[in-house]
Amino acid sequence: MIDTPGYARPEPWRVKVIEPISLPDRRTRETHLKRAAYNLFSLPSDAVYIDLLTDSGTSAMSDEQWAAMMRGDESYAGSRNFYHFEQTVREIFGFPHVIPTHQGRVAENLLFSTVLKAGDVVPSNTHFDTTRANVEANGGVALDLVTPEARDPRSLYPFKGNMDVRRLAAALDEHEGRVPLVMLTLTNNSGGGQPVSLENVRAVKEACERYGVPLIIDACRFAENAYFIREREEGCRNWSIIAIVREVFTFADGCTMSAKKDGLSNIGGFLALRHDDWVQNLKNKLILIEGFPTYGGLAGRDLEVVAQGLKEVLDERYLEFRIGQVRRLGETLSAAGVPIVLPVGGHAVYLDASAFLPHVPACAYPAQALAVALYREGGIRAVEIGGVMFGRVDPATGAEIPPPLELVRLTIPRRVYSNTHLDYVAHVVKQIYARREEITGVKIVRQAPFLRHFTAEFELLSA
Ligand code: F0G
Repeated sequence: MIDTPGYARPEPWRVKVIEPISLPDRRTRETHLKRAAYNLFSLPSDAVYIDLLTDSGTSAMSDEQWAAMMRGDESYAGSRNFYHFEQTVREIFGFPHVIPTHQGRVAENLLFSTVLKAGDVVPSNTHFDTTRANVEANGGVALDLVTPEARDPRSLYPFKGNMDVRRLAAALDEHEGRVPLVMLTLTNNSGGGQPVSLENVRAVKEACERYGVPLIIDACRFAENAYFIREREEGCRNWSIIAIVREVFTFADGCTMSAKKDGLSNIGGFLALRHDDWVQNLKNKLILIEGFPTYGGLAGRDLEVVAQGLKEVLDERYLEFRIGQVRRLGETLSAAGVPIVLPVGGHAVYLDASAFLPHVPACAYPAQALAVALYREGGIRAVEIGGVMFGRVDPATGAEIPPPLELVRLTIPRRVYSNTHLDYVAHVVKQIYARREEITGVKIVRQAPFLRHFTAEFELLSA
């Protein structure tokens, strides 16, 4: 029976603890939306039925991770949990220097505030928003050089997270001496959770080496990326996940990591490096902004949980279910004609809001309008990845330049929702799609100068 083609195996775990959730009635949802000024980040989580805002810090911990919490050694210096954490990171990623941080963006902050000079250029496939903000806050220029297939939501190219190596080489040439490092994000979150191939990592490293520039991987979803490599890349089908991970990271000089994703942890991160050039300065700064280098803003018990999570995430049965669950939701929607980014990514299904709401122009933020509709109709919280998050003001004209894609990300927390929950999500999306003409756009009435999506306030435009 389990070998029947098309039969997806169920969750490789059973439930030991539950957390009740409930759907507020429609009027209550409307009230919540108004109070939140149509910004879903401002909703209290109790008002949310199915929370697909992020896969970050939202994982369910295993019994082994809960047990790990009891092994916390809360010594200020030299906690045994740090040594276990450090050892685990070294074994998986192969970097000798391990600097713990309380989440990914602190690793980015440390790195860019230490190695970047004003006017420096940092190429990436696509910078995540905190990565871009940390580059820009330190006077740098963040370049997105993703492969052109990524701009077509319907292209079935298997590695839409790849860096465009030709453009990377051109950028390294043009800005020679002003590129302190190249970043590569696995999987490419801002571009649809799409994977980067092993071949591309190798080619990016080759280009970097020609110019003597280090390659730093944003490793948040390293295990999901490795699963895709095994599934899709010639010559990798018989490799174990850990072998693929190790091979990928041999080409990198270091990584930033948010353990809130593939660390299966609710908090945590690190910066790991192969060479010691930057390490002392980084540790000095760590002490200034996070804490002593053997805890880096985390409790000992959190370090232990991350160490355990990094091992669990490499479990092939876990990854098979994880990637399969996200794909199942995507394929259900796609089969119903709902426009999504294809192929389905690793941690989320991305609705293509421009194709979903062709009557809403980019200046009326279709992805935000669709995210609001998901909450209003079904109590589902998703996240806008479109003009609100990535719109840029043209310094010459003052007009806003929309990003190439208007997406709504249905982000699936790890080990949290069952397929029954996701069938409900699919049902709500299909209902909204059937009545999509009724959805109007939104306008921004208040916004912050950077990372505005977290706090912007909106009004609905009338039909
Ligand atoms: N890099 C990538 C690719 C990310 O997706 C994130 C976070 C970070 C860095 C920053 O890590 O949150 O621990 O500081 N992404 C979350 C998301 C917030 O919802 O996609 P952090």
